[in-house]
Amino acid sequence: MIKVVVCNDYEEVSDKAAEIMLNLVKNKPNAVLGLATGSSPIGLYQRMIKDHQENGTSYKDITTFNLDEYVGLPLSHPESYYSFMHRNLFDHIDVEEKNIHIPSSQGSDLQANCDAYNAALSEYQLDIQVLGIGSDGHIGFNEPNTPFDSVTHITDLKESTIRDNARFFDNDISKVPTKAITMGISNVLSAKKIILIATSEHKAQAIYDTVRGEKNIACPASALQDHPDTVIIVDKAAAKLL
Ligand code: GLP
Repeated sequence: MIKVVVCNDYEEVSDKAAEIMLNLVKNKPNAVLGLATGSSPIGLYQRMIKDHQENGTSYKDITTFNLDEYVGLPLSHPESYYSFMHRNLFDHIDVEEKNIHIPSSQGSDLQANCDAYNAALSEYQLDIQVLGIGSDGHIGFNEPNTPFDSVTHITDLKESTIRDNARFFDNDISKVPTKAITMGISNVLSAKKIILIATSEHKAQAIYDTVRGEKNIACPASALQDHPDTVIIVDKAAAKLL
């Protein structure tokens, strides 16, 4: 069952997401967090950092798994998801580097990297998975037509995703990577709790297809309809078609 929470704006959306996340981290100091990149979770991460600084909530026993990473960018590239996560969260809390997992797109044997990530994931139970959503309904980088039983894999990014993400690459489509390594949909669904954050009218159709549409691989996020504990936190614009 998907629960939808409609908020007035991005600040309220981030407050709601942080309430759920901080409730988990404070009650389970060794929780396993599935994390996401993109602009949607930045407000959540800011609130986690503020709470860590002001209330001392510790992440030293927390384990994290990120959803995805671009193929073709060095880790040091400012738009690699490795850089994004360190800049926006990890550098500002006391999570241990050894407990951070981000799919690796480095080296020549990418299938081996996928296998290693699946093996690492199989040793843990994700307590929560944070998601954004692509305007085409993708979660992580599981683009339309990805099977719901997929695990970590290499994927080609859709044209619309490349266009959407060009804003992080000087609005130059030719600079956006065309491939990524991503957790599969079944990895995402294995999380005990899922929170999906979406704001702006640009996401309204994808949110409609996820919540009210038929469950179908054409909208990867519609797989969440099968999940027992998913909360979609949206602003009014993203909820416009519901
Ligand atoms: C990227 C990420 C997704 C994210 C999506 C939406 O494609 N791989 O995990 O959900 O962007 O990003 P934003 O939150 O910036 O709209």
